[in-house]
Amino acid sequence: MHPHTPRTPGTRQRRRTGSRLTGTLLATAALLAGALTAPTAAGADASSDDRTTATDPRPQAQAPYRNAKLPVDRRVADLLGRMTLAEKVGQMTQAERAAVDGDRDQITRLGLGSLLSGGGSTPKPNTPEAWADMVDAYQEKALATRLGIPLLYGVDSVHGHNNLVGATVFPHNMAMGATRDPQLVRRAAEITATETRATGPQWAFAPCVCVVRDVRWGRSYESYGEDPDLVTRMESAIDGLQGTRPEDLARPDRVLASAKHFAGDGDTEYGTSTTGTYTLDQGVTVTDHESFNRIDLAPYVPAVRKHHVGTIMPSYSSVKWTDAGDGKPVKMSAHKELLTDVLKSKIGFDGFLISDWEAIHQLPGDYAAQVRASVNAGMDMFMEPYAAPKFVETLIKEVEAGRVETSRIDDAVSRILRAKFRLGLFEKPYTDRSNADTIGSPAHRAVAREAVAKSQVLLKNSGGALPLKKSQKIYVAGVNADDLGNQAGGWTVTWQGQSGNGHFPGTTILGGIKEHAEQVTYSQDAAAPTEGNDVGVVVVGETPYAEGMGDVGNGGHTLNLSAADKANIDRVCGAIETCVVLDVAGRPQIVTDELAKTDAFVMSWLPGAEGGGVADVLFGRTPFTGKLPVTWPRSEAQEPINVGDTDYDPLFRYGFGLSARR
Ligand code: BGC
Ligand code: BGC
Repeated sequence: MHPHTPRTPGTRQRRRTGSRLTGTLLATAALLAGALTAPTAAGADASSDDRTTATDPRPQAQAPYRNAKLPVDRRVADLLGRMTLAEKVGQMTQAERAAVDGDRDQITRLGLGSLLSGGGSTPKPNTPEAWADMVDAYQEKALATRLGIPLLYGVDSVHGHNNLVGATVFPHNMAMGATRDPQLVRRAAEITATETRATGPQWAFAPCVCVVRDVRWGRSYESYGEDPDLVTRMESAIDGLQGTRPEDLARPDRVLASAKHFAGDGDTEYGTSTTGTYTLDQGVTVTDHESFNRIDLAPYVPAVRKHHVGTIMPSYSSVKWTDAGDGKPVKMSAHKELLTDVLKSKIGFDGFLISDWEAIHQLPGDYAAQVRASVNAGMDMFMEPYAAPKFVETLIKEVEAGRVETSRIDDAVSRILRAKFRLGLFEKPYTDRSNADTIGSPAHRAVAREAVAKSQVLLKNSGGALPLKKSQKIYVAGVNADDLGNQAGGWTVTWQGQSGNGHFPGTTILGGIKEHAEQVTYSQDAAAPTEGNDVGVVVVGETPYAEGMGDVGNGGHTLNLSAADKANIDRVCGAIETCVVLDVAGRPQIVTDELAKTDAFVMSWLPGAEGGGVADVLFGRTPFTGKLPVTWPRSEAQEPINVGDTDYDPLFRYGFGLSARR
């Protein structure tokens, strides 16, 4: 714990945007000392009970909702009772930061409840200070509203605070699933929460508790695995992000989590659609209620009841029941049965639902019909990155026309406000930067390195090829041997990720090998002479992608190895006595023919920035303990293939993983 120590604000009355002095210090001190002047934009249409005083200048300073000693539900009820319809709808609206940048006063005008940074939507420069200054500047606009309701700022911290250059970059979830270590997953999530909140955002759109049933899905690596029980065990990530007690959320090292994407997103049907060849991402889960409950819904029950996840993001995908209804797919954004009857009523979810990015735009009908269908199905907050003003206007009209009940609006807003009170935002709206110096620290990166080592899965090891020895002459080749961008994958600094070194700090796998061995030759395309080497290490794999862009069949994606990878294996394994192949990819690739050419084969997944962890197991510093979180297919055509299938005949079964010790 890093207790926050407020300092005196000096004579400064109001925090200034862009100041290196933290907004938090000023805001906190101001609240304590009563030094903050009344926000100028507030009170324009202030109600008669707006008792702003000289000693506490916040709007409605004496109102019960301002009283941190009162129970959260009491504060929610008090605040809700003071809100106009427009203010309530504003709370239900989330815009992209870039969309409000040209006119930041719209945060005040619309009374926006939330902003997000989409993948790669970062301040310039992309530094912790600039992030915190940016979030605080938006926050200032929210605090200038009549009731001074603080903003909630969300970001996709899905493997560390991955939009921030210099953050600790953990392996993607599939690798974390391979560790089978919930404590480690929790620790990684704690670090993610610490680094995220120290730069402003108080909300992470994580973890994905998707159960991947077909690794042709471009989001496979966001899943902890194909077994709902494994995914459920890894929900320790929620504890890491949020803490375990309600009061933990107010800590400067915790964030609100979001279990996503509810539900069935990893279980959609592969096929050909009328618009293209890929239908996995944002596709249709064709299932009966029993299978859906057992596979897709299962992780949400403990996510809600045991881990008390604060928010849940409904999926872009649809569900098509084979045992009920009219057999037509229904988008999750408007799935009343699943959002309201099952998730909220039956499972007891008392947090709020956040729609996915423009997801409601995929619903049938005009915009008003889309908004109405989703609100009435149970959606509470709307990620409308570029359409916030239109959303606000539309929803107000729908309520006024009686097509959306006021009680539904009150329910949604209560859920959102409850989260804001729990996060302590009314007391400390500005960024507490006291943990900023831990971002990317050696201690944090050591945890990432440990996670990398524990996630490596040894699939073949003949003749004691592994572990490698320090004294051996090692020849390293392959596209993913020395490429930080490739080993981190999508959702790293940018949405899709990008190849190459230099986008963010870290250690490549080659760099890690060089920490252990003295005689290393590196030749990416294996063009350098191979003579005189004891061991060849060929690092094959994928290049970065995110979401549907990585679906097999989309943009040339395939599970097959590239021609260059195969050529490197042929050349190095053909020439050097002992040959080790590492696969750096977001999912299993087809290696059925190549396996025989290797002495050892390791699945490295997408390890992130700490390539040293890969080398640690290669050289036996730590033993191989990783187990496959998904079934490894013999061919692309074998997908979908999952443990428990009849006629289960994969290349490597679910849970497989050898150990190699010195
Ligand atoms: C993704 C979500 C993500 C959101 C915000 C969507 O495209 O499906 O997982 O949280 O964008 O970036
Ligand atoms: C954003 C992502 C978002 C995606 C949705 C991108 O432009 O950066 O955050 O998930 O759009 O399509």
